[in-house]
Amino acid sequence: MKIMMLGAPGVGKGTIAKRLVARYNTPQLSTGDMLREAVKGGTEVGLQAKGYMDAGELVPDDVVIGVIGERLKRPDVNDGFILDGYPRTIPQAEALAAITDLDVVIRLTASDETIVERLSGRRIAEDGTIYHIKNFPPPPDVKVIQRDDDKEQAIRQRLFVYRKQTAPLVEYYRDKGALKDIDADASRTVDEIFEDCCSVL
Ligand code: AP5
Repeated sequence: MKIMMLGAPGVGKGTIAKRLVARYNTPQLSTGDMLREAVKGGTEVGLQAKGYMDAGELVPDDVVIGVIGERLKRPDVNDGFILDGYPRTIPQAEALAAITDLDVVIRLTASDETIVERLSGRRIAEDGTIYHIKNFPPPPDVKVIQRDDDKEQAIRQRLFVYRKQTAPLVEYYRDKGALKDIDADASRTVDEIFEDCCSVL
């Protein structure tokens, strides 16, 4: 199945995508993770992306379309994949549509208050496990870091950019009949949100 996770920064796309990977044994394609890897490795793409990411801006379409285009050529995606954080603009969605169709677009929704609380408390372990200082505290022996773009000013900018550049994808995929809305607000546990997602697949 070809699945896309859509939703504001910090709504829980990565958390749910990792659980879907485990249940359906299908690869997660996170452009955020790919770009952070490129920054860490000091590659050409990483050098192009770093400034945008730190500022909470989107990396230019041509760069990201190139990264995902290469990834989609690998054979492990032949039976399906979970796109996490891509597409994020209408030109990216059109570039993807020229390569493949999506079966389901899962949109997670939550209030701004919930999102800011989730992002400011997020911590990441070296193996990519996502923790939260209050909701899912890391074990004492696990070393975690805070992402550079999880600081207040970058969070505000990411939310602004989401509304302006990514939110139009909601209508784009609704028109295609692919969109499924899932309530991911603070009153819902990760287990409940995950089961809701599985029920629409
Ligand atoms: P990216 O890494 O994709 O960041 P994002 O979309 O901002 O999403 P996040 O990873 O911040 O959040 P999430 O929704 O995955 O939430 P999570 O599960 O971690 O992109 C980063 C940057 O890369 C962009 O700003 C841009 O510069 C660039 N980029 C990436 N893709 C691009 C593209 N296509 N085009 C252009 N530029 C691109 O959860 C958050 C926290 O909440 C965690 O601590 C978690 O433990 C907690 N949590 C989650 N769910 C729950 C719950 N139900 N209850 C309690 N706590 C919860």
